[in-house]
Amino acid sequence: MPFSDYKTALVTGASSGIGAAVVERLCKEGLQVHALARSAARLDELASRTGCIPHAIDVSDLAGITRLAQEIDFDVLVNNAGVDRPGSILKADAEGIDLLVDVNLRAVLHLCRLVVPGMAARDRGHVINISSIAGAYNFGGNSTYHATKAAVSMLSRQLRIDVFGKRVRVTEICPGRVATDIFAHVHGNAEEMHKRFIEGFELPQAEDIASAIAFAIAAPVAVNVGHMEITPTLQVPGGLSTTRPETPRG
Ligand SMILES: NC(=O)c1ccc[n+]([C@@H]2O[C@H](COP(=O)([O-])OP(=O)(O)OC[C@H]3O[C@@H](n4cnc5c(N)ncnc54)[C@H](OP(=O)(O)O)[C@@H]3O)[C@@H](O)[C@H]2O)c1
Repeated sequence: MPFSDYKTALVTGASSGIGAAVVERLCKEGLQVHALARSAARLDELASRTGCIPHAIDVSDLAGITRLAQEIDFDVLVNNAGVDRPGSILKADAEGIDLLVDVNLRAVLHLCRLVVPGMAARDRGHVINISSIAGAYNFGGNSTYHATKAAVSMLSRQLRIDVFGKRVRVTEICPGRVATDIFAHVHGNAEEMHKRFIEGFELPQAEDIASAIAFAIAAPVAVNVGHMEITPTLQVPGGLSTTRPETPRG
């Protein structure tokens, strides 16, 4: 469906990284873009640069997102807000688990519940869910993050069943490493994290993810781009670990 068939979009996690780039791109494509995140100042700056409409709302504020979804009929929903915390389940704390489930999964489910029925009734809409290669592969990291992203991945497939027969499209974008500030937001110490995760690597930029999303939206209405895995060329998941026991059996 060409962009001209859609009027409005909601992008969550719009104050930085991939979300901000998606807002900028969808504004350029002529949509009225509603940009949601917690950082009001950064959203205001984005609004003055792009013409988007800022909403300083925590995505886990159910009353806030419910009000927004009732006020506006969104044609495009980009579920992008995401957080991570360092450490495996061996070191996880209760607050971290709840936060990741709230932001990465619960909010996505609620926004789909609030927005997708209207899309189905209007026979027009496109849901873009940003998951992660962490939802598809196992590697060192935060198991809660992997679990929430795997859930978003399955939700994206299941949504296709839920809207079957309607011209509502669903696209899962599954990024590997992208050059954003997410690593500083996870670990703190922006300069150190830039050195560890960004500097010297050849990485997709946030704008590259926005371009992939624009491609999926601009495809003819008969075309549903269901899943796009986008990694650096020089990044590959996979591997096999085998180790001897740390202590012999007694
Ligand atoms: N960059 C990567 O390498 C990578 C790889 C795979 C997947 N992803 C996924 O891509 C998405 C975007 O990540 P990014 O790299 O652009 O990271 P980022 O720069 O850290 O952006 C995360 C965005 O989410 C927002 N956010 C966090 N908590 C929120 C909350 N409670 N309510 C509303 N907004 C909230 C942040 O805004 P506020 O702090 O202002 O609320 C920010 O705008 C995430 O879902 C992430 O998991 C990223």
